[in-house]
Amino acid sequence: MIVNIKILRFDPEKDKKQHWETYQVEAQPSDRVLDAINNVKWYVDPTLNFRRSCGHGICGSDAMMINGRNRLACKTLLRDVVKDGGTLTIEPIRGLKVEKDLVVDMEPFFDAYRSIMPYFINESPAPAGERLQSQLDAERMAHSSNCILCACCTTSCPIFWVNGSYLGPAAIVQAHRFIFDSRDEATNQRLNIMNQNTGVWRCRTAYNCTEACPREIPITTLIEEVKRAVMFQQA
Ligand code: SF4
Ligand code: F3S
Ligand code: FES
Repeated sequence: MIVNIKILRFDPEKDKKQHWETYQVEAQPSDRVLDAINNVKWYVDPTLNFRRSCGHGICGSDAMMINGRNRLACKTLLRDVVKDGGTLTIEPIRGLKVEKDLVVDMEPFFDAYRSIMPYFINESPAPAGERLQSQLDAERMAHSSNCILCACCTTSCPIFWVNGSYLGPAAIVQAHRFIFDSRDEATNQRLNIMNQNTGVWRCRTAYNCTEACPREIPITTLIEEVKRAVMFQQA
């Protein structure tokens, strides 16, 4: 098939603003969007910039807006987003400063992640063996522990677009992972962070995040669980 790939480009050294450039490539319908933009970079225009690493939906580095929706380029097949002879649009994820082409400044995203203390906290003496938990307890954090920090959710949230101080759904999912970990002892500290005006109460259940998640994490439901935990703590 022949595909026109229309990419929103920006080079801070020569462009005043972003502009579209279109490239025609030959591809198989079963190729991924990542294969198509690799072809552009390797054979047509080596100045094109984007992030990718694993190529298999694990590292979370190739989040981009494909046909108006946040997706991972390595998990999106061409046949699902474009017809033979059609045009595919690719833009950087929104709400973070564009550094170059499809590369955005991820630091504010990771600042929010770091702020929820994304590590296991338990000051009790270590047992002889592992710190065990029941199957039921493990299931409570099963969804949130699937997150790969790709930022598809946070950068599709309209609240985050207008207020960058909102920690965003990805940070809340990460907080959820530890709040609902029966072995962790910092639940109250994380619930206090979630109760601040940058936390869960900013969420207006827009659901964009849930629709964008490549790991099919029910993000809005998890945010609601965190909201209920905060309310319970405050009662
Ligand atoms: Fe990506 Fe989903 Fe994690 Fe959000 S919750 S960062 S969309 S994997
Ligand atoms: Fe935003 Fe998701 Fe809430 S899109 S408003 S965090 S449900
Ligand atoms: Fe790693 Fe797509 S390149 S998730």
